Amino acid sequence: MPPTLCEASRGTLKAYLARSFTSLVEAKISERYQVLRNSSGLAMNAEELAGAALNCDYLFVSATEQVSRLVFEAFAGTLKAVATLSVGFNHVDIDTARAHEVAVFNSPGVLTDACAEIAMLLILNAARRAHEGEVLVRSGKWPGWAPTQLLGIGLVGRRLGILGMGRIGQAVADRARSFGVRVHYHNRQPLPAELEKGAVYHDTPESLLAVSDIFLITAPGTPELAGFLNRRRIELLPLHAIVVNIARGEMIDDDALIEALITKRVFAAGLDVFNREPEIDPRYRTLENVFLTPHIGSATEETRNAMGLILLEGLHAFETGQIARNRVC
Ligand code: DGY
Repeated sequence: MPPTLCEASRGTLKAYLARSFTSLVEAKISERYQVLRNSSGLAMNAEELAGAALNCDYLFVSATEQVSRLVFEAFAGTLKAVATLSVGFNHVDIDTARAHEVAVFNSPGVLTDACAEIAMLLILNAARRAHEGEVLVRSGKWPGWAPTQLLGIGLVGRRLGILGMGRIGQAVADRARSFGVRVHYHNRQPLPAELEKGAVYHDTPESLLAVSDIFLITAPGTPELAGFLNRRRIELLPLHAIVVNIARGEMIDDDALIEALITKRVFAAGLDVFNREPEIDPRYRTLENVFLTPHIGSATEETRNAMGLILLEGLHAFETGQIARNRVC
C-alpha cells in the first residue's frame, strides 16, 4: 500500500512509521519530521517496507518488521537511520546497515520493569496452573474446593535459572527473590558482586539447566541461540521443571518442548514469545500446562512511550553529533 503523507512538520527530514506508536510518541515524531506512515496499522514484510518507505531519511519499525538487505538496498542513498521500538534488534540486518552507513537505534533500559513483570506473571501462572484454573471457573463446571484440585508448584526454595542476566534478568531476579526463590544464572561473564546479589554463576548454559527448577530465557535473540532449548538440553533440566521464555521464540525447539510438556517431563511453560509469530505452533493452544501471552513484555502505555522517546533522543544525538546511549551501529 503506498504511503500517504499525513503530516508535514517544520523539519525537512522524512520519517516512515511502519507501525502505529502511542499518540504521545507519534505527536513527538510529527513535531520533528515529515511523517509518512503505514496506514494499514499491520506488520509489514520486507518487500512491503522496501516498496513503501522510499526516499525516507528515517525508518521507525518494531520487532515485527524484518529490516533485511532488501530494505537497505531499496533505500540506498537516502536512508540515514533505522529506529526500532524494541530492545531486541535481531530483525535488523546490522552488518548490512553498517555497510550502507545507516545508524540503528533501539530502546533499551526503559522496558526492564515491564518485561520483568511479565516474566513473574508467566512463572507464577505456569507454576500455579492458572490457565487451567481460569478455564475451570469460566466453564461453569467447577465442582468447588477440593483437597487435591489443581495442585501446582510453590516457588519458595526453588532454583530459578536465568539465561541472560542483563538488565531484565536482574530485574526478574530482584522480584523472584521476594518469592523465596534462589537465583542462578549464566552470562558469558559473571556479574560484579553488587549486581549478582548472591546469585550463583554458571559458566555454561548446560550447568545452569541442571539446577533450574524454573528455567527463564531472557538472553538476546542471537543466531547462535536459535533452537537452544532442544531435546538434549531439556533432558538436563530437573524433572518437572518450568520453562519460561520472554526473549525470542526462535530459542526454543517447539517439537522438543511440546513433547516434554505432553509427557510432563516439563511440568509447565509460560511463553510470551514464539517461533513465527503470530502463527504459533497450534499444539500449544491445546496444552493445558502452558500459559500463553501474545508478546506483551513491554506492553504498558508508559513503557511504550518511554521506548519511543528514547528513539527520538538517539536520533537527536545523531543529528547533533553526540553519542547516543541507544545506538546499536
Ligand atoms: C523487544 O523490545 O525486543 C520486545 O520483544 C518487543 O519487541
